[in-house]
Amino acid sequence: MRAAVLHDYGTPPHYDEFDEPRPSDDAAVVEVEAAGLSHLDVAKASGTFYTGPPPLPSVVGSDGVGRLPDGRRVFFDTVVPPYGSLAERVLVPSGALFDVAEGVDSRMAAALGNSGLAAWLALEWRARLRPEETVLVLGATGTVGTAAVQIARALGAGRVVAAARSSERLHRLDADAVVELDGAGGGGASRTDGHGGDGGTGATGGGGAGAGGDLVAAIREATGGGADVIIDPLWGPPALAAMGAARHGARHIQLGQQAAMRIDLPAPLVRSPALDICGFAIFHAPVEVRRDAYLRMTRLAASGGLKLDLQVVPLSGITGAWERQRCGPGTKLVVACH
Ligand SMILES: NC(=O)c1ccc[n+]([C@@H]2O[C@H](COP(=O)([O-])OP(=O)(O)OC[C@H]3O[C@@H](n4cnc5c(N)ncnc54)[C@H](OP(=O)(O)O)[C@@H]3O)[C@@H](O)[C@H]2O)c1
Repeated sequence: MRAAVLHDYGTPPHYDEFDEPRPSDDAAVVEVEAAGLSHLDVAKASGTFYTGPPPLPSVVGSDGVGRLPDGRRVFFDTVVPPYGSLAERVLVPSGALFDVAEGVDSRMAAALGNSGLAAWLALEWRARLRPEETVLVLGATGTVGTAAVQIARALGAGRVVAAARSSERLHRLDADAVVELDGAGGGGASRTDGHGGDGGTGATGGGGAGAGGDLVAAIREATGGGADVIIDPLWGPPALAAMGAARHGARHIQLGQQAAMRIDLPAPLVRSPALDICGFAIFHAPVEVRRDAYLRMTRLAASGGLKLDLQVVPLSGITGAWERQRCGPGTKLVVACH
């Protein structure tokens, strides 16, 4: 079969021939329709990810959507190495097959895999979001962030604030307020009309000087006194500022490090607001929790309540797509595997 094959750690996979997977008593062959590319795929293929290096050669790709031999459409987020989702066919443990809601396109269902589940589970399962709470989403222009803004609302948040480096994308999000982390053009924008977005409170940050008091003040204003739940794929100065503006008893869900690997965290920043800093990874959630979340999430997408911009690339174009993913794609990349 044709597949995206990793031959050396830290190098892009190539469109190559690979042995066909064979079904067993506890693993099924899935005919892959589409698979999302994610930062996780690149991290695993580097050979240095904490889950351990994949075998060589092996097929890359962690999750996807496809068909079982009986025609049932499934999502999977676990594979049996050396097989991976970026291939015509993949071997999946029988216990890791999830239903996909009717009415959602397979490419969108694949796009929602890693990114959507991260957003959904971070909010519902890890943060235990309660109705009417205020959610602050950092990195809101990214795929996880864009999903989190919409999912927070669907899960009953009272106020949703999107924070990211300034861009048209940030201002297109359906948030109650936005905060520009880099404060470009004279300050961050904290909007309160639910749909607009211009001018306002000074903000600094992004990858640079960002944990300053201006950004803390901008976040506090945009959140109406601080967030109850912070979704954080960034770490670095934006995370520090978000903690500085957190409401008492807030949960800070740490799920990525796009802005920085380290921060200098003053003890009072955690102690004073009784802040919970919660590490999160999708696979911390039990499989039944992931299965249930995925079905409800794809139902939400089918009803039009969850949308992502995505770009579809053919499996034969994997090497170029991989490089784009590595550099930060700006839009969700989905590989069409057939
Ligand atoms: N823990 C988990 O289970 C889990 C699951 C899924 C993803 N993740 C992690 O979550 C993170 C985001 O994933 P994604 O798919 O949303 O990525 P993405 O689509 O590439 O988005 C990246 C986001 O980070 C922002 N960003 C990048 N560098 C930045 C900097 N120096 N300062 C401020 N913002 C910066 C981007 O802003 P611009 O739009 O301005 O570039 C964008 O908002 C990744 O680290 C990923 O590994 C974790």
